[in-house]
Amino acid sequence: MRRPIIAGNWKMNKTESETIELLTDLIPLVKDADVDVVVCPSFINLLAAKKVLEGTNVKLGAQNMHFEDQGAYTGEVSPVMLKTSGVEYVILGHSERRQYFKETDKLVNTKVLAAIDHGLIPIICVGETLEQREQGITQELVALQTKVALNDVSSEDAKKVVIAYEPVWAIGTGKTSSAEDANDVIAAIRQTIADVYNKEVADAIRIQYGGSANPGNISELMSMPQIDGGLIGGASLTAEDFAKIVNF
Ligand code: PGA
Repeated sequence: MRRPIIAGNWKMNKTESETIELLTDLIPLVKDADVDVVVCPSFINLLAAKKVLEGTNVKLGAQNMHFEDQGAYTGEVSPVMLKTSGVEYVILGHSERRQYFKETDKLVNTKVLAAIDHGLIPIICVGETLEQREQGITQELVALQTKVALNDVSSEDAKKVVIAYEPVWAIGTGKTSSAEDANDVIAAIRQTIADVYNKEVADAIRIQYGGSANPGNISELMSMPQIDGGLIGGASLTAEDFAKIVNF
């Protein structure tokens, strides 16, 4: 059985004091959760978050990272820095990184390998745009994104990776994929993993849905056999909503 994983992607939201406040409110509300709970604040608030989260069941994630350990990369944050700051997960290849910062599948793969090298668990985002959906190439596209992202990842490491299927047209728009449709695309991603590795890896890997998931639709999404969790943006920004999702 795959243990569900629900992660909050805070994006570029929350100051240090707001981070502490939100987490302080959240911790008691999710303490009995039967899922892995992850929050991903901005880089600058990771250390403040780490202090508040110590000794709780809420794990810390980052929203991005560079692939080098150190060096002349102005404005970037390395896997070593994340690891030594108590970060356990890192979101890679989010569609906003792909769209606004021109991240490619190849770059995402390089980052995935670096994250694994440093003992960080990547949450790899894949998903189609509205145009691609209308062209009917959703499943081929996410299969390709998945294959490239996992290039050179061993089967043992692949089992620990998390994938987030996030249709780009559903992110922050209030439009959710239907649960059946998300389930079908996630099944296609799992089949791709079975083809590249084997059934054991495909059965082990956790695949989340993301894109306007909220307290009202999470139960239906989570009732789908292929959906192992959620990557939550807007609805992770208040403790009440995120706790409702975690405790679906
Ligand atoms: P959303 O964002 O829940 O606000 O749609 C999800 C995401 O971008 O990970």
